[in-house]
Amino acid sequence: MKRQVSTLDAIPSKRLFLSIIADYDLNKAICELVDNGLDVWTRAGRTGAIRIQVRLDGELGTIQVEDDAGGLARDELRYIVGPGQTGSSASDQTIGIFGVGTKRAVVALARDVRIKTRHGSGDTFQIEFDESWLGDEEWELPLFEVDPISPRTTLVELQKLRVQITEDARKQLRDHLGATYAEFLSLPEVSILLDGVSVDPRFFDGWSYPPDYGPRRFRGSITTSGGGIVDVEVIAGLSSESSPTAGEYGVYFYCNDRLVAPAMKSFDVGFTTGQAGKPHPKISLTKVIVRLRGEAVAMPWNSSKSDISTKHAVFLALHDWLVTVVAAYAKISRTWMGIWPEKVYAYRAGDVVDVEIGDFLTARKSHLPDPPKSKPRLPERMASRNAGLVRRSPWVTGLFEGVVAAETISKQPLAHANWFALNLLDLTLTAALRSYFVNEAKSGLAERGLKKLLTRAPHVASELKDAVPLDGETWVQIENLARRKDDLTYGRTEPTVANDELRAADVLVRRVLAILHKVRTDA
Ligand SMILES: Nc1ncnc2c1ncn2[C@@H]1O[C@H](COP(=O)(O)OP(=O)(O)OP(=O)(O)O)[C@@H](O)[C@H]1O
Ligand SMILES: [Mg+2]
Repeated sequence: MKRQVSTLDAIPSKRLFLSIIADYDLNKAICELVDNGLDVWTRAGRTGAIRIQVRLDGELGTIQVEDDAGGLARDELRYIVGPGQTGSSASDQTIGIFGVGTKRAVVALARDVRIKTRHGSGDTFQIEFDESWLGDEEWELPLFEVDPISPRTTLVELQKLRVQITEDARKQLRDHLGATYAEFLSLPEVSILLDGVSVDPRFFDGWSYPPDYGPRRFRGSITTSGGGIVDVEVIAGLSSESSPTAGEYGVYFYCNDRLVAPAMKSFDVGFTTGQAGKPHPKISLTKVIVRLRGEAVAMPWNSSKSDISTKHAVFLALHDWLVTVVAAYAKISRTWMGIWPEKVYAYRAGDVVDVEIGDFLTARKSHLPDPPKSKPRLPERMASRNAGLVRRSPWVTGLFEGVVAAETISKQPLAHANWFALNLLDLTLTAALRSYFVNEAKSGLAERGLKKLLTRAPHVASELKDAVPLDGETWVQIENLARRKDDLTYGRTEPTVANDELRAADVLVRRVLAILHKVRTDA
């Protein structure tokens, strides 16, 4: 059943305004006003110069944001106060699209708001409201004509601030403006001044250029469901420096030239196990800078342009490819951890390699460099160090492998790791003596005689000492090790071996291997 019984009043309440105060800080709110000036300039074809001035007065507690982008025409004035009203059309490549920026920003910053605007060199109008207007349900506002301001200018004046203007806040705002509008600020036509001083652009693309692993610039597009084209440019590479504590790595998103999300390290861009891995200093050289250009509706930003909307269709279209790229460079960063200075930072200059992607939705990962080989592990390193020797004296393999096995065991999270390692070293020592006796001294001793000879506790047989060229001090150490192992094996208490003791045994065994068999253990 469906039958209309009455109508309901669904007129919005001005409380709507107040609900957003908590969502905005100084930086975000000021940027909304800067965005609007830049949008007017963009809609007019980006011709001519534009200057946006932000002034903060901590003592008076006032903020002014002024631009000379053109001003609002009389019939556009309502756009600046009516929630949801906008002068942008869906196809504009602007920043503004939601029709809420100015209104939320001014209310979040101040209790007293005055906006003056002069379209071209026409009349100067002023709109003003304060908390009492926000408190009642009257939506009409008086419109004033006032003394003329400079032509083509819009001036937002805020008093009775809800935010604190501290020195720190001022500095942070300068940094934030420099990073957010870096693309605009590098154009000669655009200037932004904070308290009368030009804001400098701040970019994040300091790259290293290791051979084969330098930065790559991928270009292509994404077609939206509405048939619109978003131009995509992604530069991925290894950073020229690591600053894990400052967190300056990850994915940077620019939409229509505005930085929306710096240094993203979330699950959504691949920073999770099985992809790039969780954020960690090891992968802190990973840097991927994404630049999207297209209709404002196609930009995957949130309504305050302070983050990426990861549910947006354009972000989703880019997602799989993006994650592959992030993971690839994270892998290189991780593989070379510990040797970054020679493998990465040493290459300070080079070219960015251009790669045409076409459609990002169907892009493949073959556009990426093959990951570098990981540093070989100890067993391989030791084997290659002794490769020549093994060809001549194959029996040495078991000797250096004994040292590797002991070292490997000692690093295991086992309560008795040192004890097991000491046994392996002792075994290796016995093997070294036996091998020497059999292979180098060419003794014809039968097996039973050999066993007796090699039993070193409590004393090394003089026959062994005579046949094997080691100095007196080394024989003392060999006897000590044998006695100690005996005591630990057959004593009543649980065997415990201190790190120092294990280290001394390790040094002894390596020395014996070097003297008797020329084995190199410095791999
Ligand atoms: N400084 C300005 N100069 C000229 N016109 C402006 C200025 N600021 C705002 N406007 C007009 O007011 C409209 C509303 O601005 P507002 O920031 O509220 O929304 P928006 O920019 O359209 O969208 P968004 O909410 O995404 O920022 C703009 O579209 C523009 O037409
Ligand atoms: Mg706006």
